[in-house]
Amino acid sequence: MTKFTLNGKAVESSHAPDTPLLWVIRDEFNLTGTKFGCGIAQCGACTVHQDGVAIRSCITPVESVEGATITTIEGLGDHVLKEAWVEEQVPQCGWCQSGQIMSAAALLSEDPHPSDETITEAMDGNLCRCMAYVRIRRAIHTAARMSQKDGAVSAGPVSVTTDTAEVDHGV
Ligand code: FES
Ligand code: FES
Repeated sequence: MTKFTLNGKAVESSHAPDTPLLWVIRDEFNLTGTKFGCGIAQCGACTVHQDGVAIRSCITPVESVEGATITTIEGLGDHVLKEAWVEEQVPQCGWCQSGQIMSAAALLSEDPHPSDETITEAMDGNLCRCMAYVRIRRAIHTAARMSQKDGAVSAGPVSVTTDTAEVDHGV
């Protein structure tokens, strides 16, 4: 059994300790907003927050989140990024989008008004086959402006933990 907090609720996973957190989230707790893309920390589709830090759930054994607080796209609530995503009509097929938003939420938490360069660096590991990168960048700027207007501040730091090298996806 692995015990942790998932979107504000105390949960226990009965899966084997080395089961990737992604499958525990999706199959055991039926939270299917977090997607499988590559399974090897190369695409960012599976991004969730562990204690506020963006992580790749496809390479995170569930035993490593014992006692931690995990937040998925379902637990992000009425985050300003969701409003900005709609305003800028970001998604195309949508598959990468929850991972994009989770990474962007971590970025805005650490830097509420990121530059283009900072956005490129922070979002580098989140790939989009539909090439929505320009709209993603615009939506992050829009969310930053909305937050400033509302006096709202996002939660969660910028760090994205992967065990892999940087991926250049041409942004
Ligand atoms: S599915 Fe986890 S990074 Fe691609
Ligand atoms: S919107 Fe299709 S992969 Fe990003």
